[in-house]
Amino acid sequence: MSEKPNIFPGNWDVITETLLKTYELWFPQNWSPADLPWDECDSKNFTREECVAQSYWMSKLALFEKSGIGAFGSAALKAATHNMEDPTKKFLTAVAFDECRHDEICRRACGRLCPGFPYRFKPETELEVKALNNIMAMYENGKRYWSAFESAWDKYPLELIFSSFFFAEIGAQLIFREVGERSRNVVFSTAFRNITRDESRHLTGTLAMMERLSNEMNDKEKLMITRQMKHGFIYLSPLLFKPIDVFWKLPEDFFYYDQKLEEIAYKAGLGIPKVEDRREAWMKAIERHRSKIEDLGIPVPEIEEIGVEGVKINVKKGEDIIATPL
Ligand SMILES: [Fe+2]
Ligand SMILES: [Fe+2]
Repeated sequence: MSEKPNIFPGNWDVITETLLKTYELWFPQNWSPADLPWDECDSKNFTREECVAQSYWMSKLALFEKSGIGAFGSAALKAATHNMEDPTKKFLTAVAFDECRHDEICRRACGRLCPGFPYRFKPETELEVKALNNIMAMYENGKRYWSAFESAWDKYPLELIFSSFFFAEIGAQLIFREVGERSRNVVFSTAFRNITRDESRHLTGTLAMMERLSNEMNDKEKLMITRQMKHGFIYLSPLLFKPIDVFWKLPEDFFYYDQKLEEIAYKAGLGIPKVEDRREAWMKAIERHRSKIEDLGIPVPEIEEIGVEGVKINVKKGEDIIATPL
């Protein structure tokens, strides 16, 4: 009988130098959300509508940061119990910590702008009711995402799940750079510049993992990475584009109020790019990495919605989405 996976005896093997180097960058690039000038991000500087709208987007972002804490945290544990090379464990643990830091920015921003939002918020106007409904509907969907992600460990090889992490990081690096550049509030411009640096590190590390692990995969397994990329697009769509309904079950008027709230938040100084700009930026970000992915024998999926050409992958409505978060 084979032994149950265990963290002992462990190993200190370094096989992928790039992964070690990427993990080591975490130390000099460390930063603290507590040190930002939070007085600049305070309800006294904005109308109530602007406070709610900014908290709305930060709560939307928090969904993906929270799933990041969970996914990378559990991946770190899997890497340790399955005796993967040492930098894999440490890199994933550092990513999980980064996700905590990003969620902390969301928590502090909501706490300053609109205390209690979203979990203990009492809406007073129609717009506030809609904002809260949208977030709560998304978090309900998040539950479905998480159950599927947890069950994926028993359904798919570890190598496949680990090799698919990079796709979300492409999107993450992009959105945060854009938000940072467009933000006119010093808290957001600084926070998102720092988050972009975290995400660039995540992207380098996850690409290194993908490169190493996909080496030993056959074409069928590589096509599963392609499928995961498509899943990643669908999962991240509400933040990086607009919600794709094969997975996202949201209120009819979700997108109308989502846009309205994002517009108010933008005017208040939180630099969220418009949907059309997001579409183009995401497409370009994927194109920038296309040759690297294809050179490894991994086809890029067709993503019609944002104009990415590639292999057709059918995702059925209600199908489990096994994607990795930001
Ligand atoms: Fe993150
Ligand atoms: Fe990330």
